[in-house]
Amino acid sequence: MTDDNQQATNLLRPHAEQLHAAELEALARTDTGARPPNWRLSPSAVVTYLVGGTAGDGTVITPKYIGPRRIMEVAVATLATDRALLLLGVPGTAKTWVSEHLSAAISGTSTLLVQGTAGTPEEAIRYGWNYARLIAEGPSREALVASPIMTAMAEGKIARLEELTRIPSDVQDALITVLSEKTLPVPELGIEVQAAKGFSLIATANDRDRGVNELSSALRRRFNTVVLPLPATADDEVRIVTQRVESLGRALELPEVPSAADEIRRVVTVFRELRAGVTEDGRNKVKQPSGTLSTAEAISVITHGIAMSAHFGDGVLRPSDVAAGIQGAVVKDPGSDTVIWTEYLEGIVRERKDWSDFYRAARRGLN
Ligand SMILES: Nc1ncnc2c1ncn2[C@@H]1O[C@H](COP(=O)(O)OP(=O)(O)O)[C@@H](O)[C@H]1O
Ligand SMILES: [Mg+2]
Repeated sequence: MTDDNQQATNLLRPHAEQLHAAELEALARTDTGARPPNWRLSPSAVVTYLVGGTAGDGTVITPKYIGPRRIMEVAVATLATDRALLLLGVPGTAKTWVSEHLSAAISGTSTLLVQGTAGTPEEAIRYGWNYARLIAEGPSREALVASPIMTAMAEGKIARLEELTRIPSDVQDALITVLSEKTLPVPELGIEVQAAKGFSLIATANDRDRGVNELSSALRRRFNTVVLPLPATADDEVRIVTQRVESLGRALELPEVPSAADEIRRVVTVFRELRAGVTEDGRNKVKQPSGTLSTAEAISVITHGIAMSAHFGDGVLRPSDVAAGIQGAVVKDPGSDTVIWTEYLEGIVRERKDWSDFYRAARRGLN
């Protein structure tokens, strides 16, 4: 085990580049493709890192993104041009996840990150000042506090901007010069920071936020937009949940709980049916609750169920370990969602053979 790995095992959540250091190293060592300036890997090796495969020396590369390879190719190709990348999608479609892995694979770091909120100030995108030094010494390079975006420009790396559309429009506009001129002027010092080759930006934005702070057309033109879809099939979604639950369980050092497969399938089925408003066999309509019921929530429901089962149950994942978690994800509005959930239980779940344990556990939660 390398020092990095040893350190990473003690962290609650290592960065992608720490967790997958060995994979990234094997890919870099055996990568024969052309690398864009300042990239750690060729575009094709970056896609292999994301969707899985094998490195030139046989090292197994685990899949990070489960979905169409083509989407990752378009995303990676964008970053090899002068356009920035905007990952768009409903919550839980792996926008943040993909952004972290892309920057880890391309730049070797995923930590040049700005979190967008309604309160994000311009300094978070441009630069700020160390006020003690500013007052003592006046404006100087030493008193300047670079934003992660400024650092990425100076070092030729990928910066990440989460939830772009939550940022007020006038603050968003600070990005226009950065993305079109590839420079960040510092008028106080009469200097500018010009982006080194290899610099780009990956922004994420939520479909549901549309209209909150719509991107200006000037800014939108600087981005290539890639939409991340919901998992196409139940099998895909089961694979995503299974894989993430396994690696989360390992990271949290949860005791192993065998045969979680049945409950994972059940949670995914319930989520997909309520999300789509129709049962998997297409026979029955169901009402849709207000929550998003994302894949990410399915992962939490199962992980929580495993903790329940390992610590308070018999070590096997039972319907009763996941029923409360599912109800918590479905019922966001205690009024209307409770009605929808009850109708689903009585109209659909109750009729299914092999679902009677789950039905009883879920009914208990409602009383
Ligand atoms: N297609 C997918 N492939 C792999 N993991 C996925 C996929 N969709 C969702 N996930 C998982 O769901 C979780 C939440 O994703 P996240 O990136 O936070 O969503 P978003 O930023 O789109 O709201 C992550 O742990 C990720 O592993
Ligand atoms: Mg996100």
